[in-house]
Amino acid sequence: MKERSLYAEPYKIKMVEPIKVTTREYREMRLAEAGYNVFNLASEDVYIDLLTDSGTSAMSDNQWAGIMSGDESYAGGKNFFNLKHTIKDVMGYDFVVPTHQGRGAENILMQMLVKEGDRIPGNLHFDTTEGHIRLRKAVPVNLLKKEGYESGSKAPFKGDIDLDRLEEELKEHNDKIPFVLITVTCNNNGGQPVSMNNLREARKLADKYGVPLFLDVARFAENAFFIKDRDPVYKEMSIRDIVKEMFSYAHGCSMSAKKDALVNIGGFLAFKDNPDYYKKAVEIQIPFEGYATYGGLAGRDLEAMARGLNEVLSAEYLEDRIGQVKYLADKLLNIGVPVIEPPGGHGVYVDVKRFLHHLPQKHFPAQALVCQLYLEAGIRSVEIGTCAFGYLDPVTGEEVYPEMELLRMAIPRRVYTDRHMDVVANAFANLAGKKQNINGLKLIYQAEVLRHFTARFEPL
Ligand code: F0G
Repeated sequence: MKERSLYAEPYKIKMVEPIKVTTREYREMRLAEAGYNVFNLASEDVYIDLLTDSGTSAMSDNQWAGIMSGDESYAGGKNFFNLKHTIKDVMGYDFVVPTHQGRGAENILMQMLVKEGDRIPGNLHFDTTEGHIRLRKAVPVNLLKKEGYESGSKAPFKGDIDLDRLEEELKEHNDKIPFVLITVTCNNNGGQPVSMNNLREARKLADKYGVPLFLDVARFAENAFFIKDRDPVYKEMSIRDIVKEMFSYAHGCSMSAKKDALVNIGGFLAFKDNPDYYKKAVEIQIPFEGYATYGGLAGRDLEAMARGLNEVLSAEYLEDRIGQVKYLADKLLNIGVPVIEPPGGHGVYVDVKRFLHHLPQKHFPAQALVCQLYLEAGIRSVEIGTCAFGYLDPVTGEEVYPEMELLRMAIPRRVYTDRHMDVVANAFANLAGKKQNINGLKLIYQAEVLRHFTARFEPL
């Protein structure tokens, strides 16, 4: 990657949205009302919002111009065809099923192909993906390579699936596996990229055992940038060509366009060349999402998505985007905050087990740190640990703990400057000085699936 001081953002700011600074006393009240769950905060009470990079991008003037050309016909609107042609051009896929967002696409895919008792192997499924697999009474099987779980490992492609374990799984449970699903980049261990080699080999295994391969491509362009940056074979290849090759190894994909299509809402399911998949998907799309050519979106949203899918392929954009994530990660490492290394594409992930060793996992240390960061400086981050990924064992009723206990700061695209990142680093420097005084939390309410969105806590 380029040295960050040698370039600036490859855009200038045309419109601004004021943000509010609050006092610590004010934030204490709001957080208590929110049940110590930052999802329950009003965004107005947040100074720097790093809850997610999903749907939070700043659109370009070109995308906003596209919004004005929305064709709001119920069926056959022109923006659908622009999107379809863009997806064919960028990804090489023939069939496109628009959905209101990524989980809409997941719902269709799972309803189409997953039955009770099935198993879905992948590198590391995102939480909504796991949720949809479990809703079908099937089993998500995460086969991330070992180094993917080691926050200090500097391996270049920590999103890779463990091919040996994938082969074992495919051999042992063949008739229970409707497809393999690989997530690029791999969100839950830090936005870590999957190598081209891994995709190619996974496809070979899938073919060997007669199982299709799908990709979750929410952050496909960020993944392509890492391939160009870290794999010498691809150094001279354009992002566009790398993207094409990545998609060539799969039979289809589900996409949350709220990430790498640089839009505020939208998603799609796409299939390379199988009309039967498409027919089946549309049967489910129409009752759950909307008619085949809009899928729960306005025509203008489809247009912004089509334009975003081209913009995101700019090497300058990606360099700046991923460079900003690295800028914050380097600042935190300099003050001794353990973060996942090398930093991934869309955010900085603090390894809370290493930062707050005095707190046991049953006291929700990552959630506790999320709360402290908000109290310290009005910064909203998110827990990816025991609350998001722990669950109650249906047989024993005991809490099952996830391997990793992380605090994620996801960085919205084209929204904050490096000075905002400096404020975040300063807040961590202050917290590091008093971390022994940080107490854990007690969970007092949880939903059956996706409990982190609505959970409520009390301080211990
Ligand atoms: N797949 C991945 C890899 C994701 O990161 C997300 C969403 C989804 C699927 C679901 O897409 O939100 O459009 O329904 N991730 C967001 C996040 C919520 O904050 O990481 P969606």
